[in-house]
Amino acid sequence: MKILVINGPNLNMLGIREPAIYGNQNYAALTAYVEEVCAEHNAECEIFQSNHEGSIVDRIQQAYFDKVDGIVINPAAYTHTSVAILDALKAVSIPAVEVHLSKVSERESFRQISYAGMACVKTYAGYGFEGYKKAVEYLIENVKA
Ligand code: DQA
Repeated sequence: MKILVINGPNLNMLGIREPAIYGNQNYAALTAYVEEVCAEHNAECEIFQSNHEGSIVDRIQQAYFDKVDGIVINPAAYTHTSVAILDALKAVSIPAVEVHLSKVSERESFRQISYAGMACVKTYAGYGFEGYKKAVEYLIENVKA
């Protein structure tokens, strides 16, 4: 089982950015946590972070050629704006699970639309780091490698 975890803009600033919303743990702690979850399940995992929309589109396209089995994606702010990321997820037809650290449904109105989510089989929002664990486990349980 090969899983690609994609994190969008400003997630590299975890621990510094708005700790009341995103917590005190930094991005390295998040990647270590996700790697540990994947290792526990003997899943191969690659974690990618970018602040650039096109780089995220490129990485999703590359996943097709790399024969990735499942994608976990937190597109961050691009969730609410990016038709390009939605189209990339649709283009590759790789099962994808959307994750948000915060409970976006209880936040500002501009966060209420998720374009990427329209191409995802499941969404976990508001569980902090644990949302990534839920997403990885969902893919492991539901996707045939
Ligand atoms: C986020 C929620 C988004 O609305 C926001 O732009 C982010 C992070 C989350 O993980 O809660 O950058 O995706």
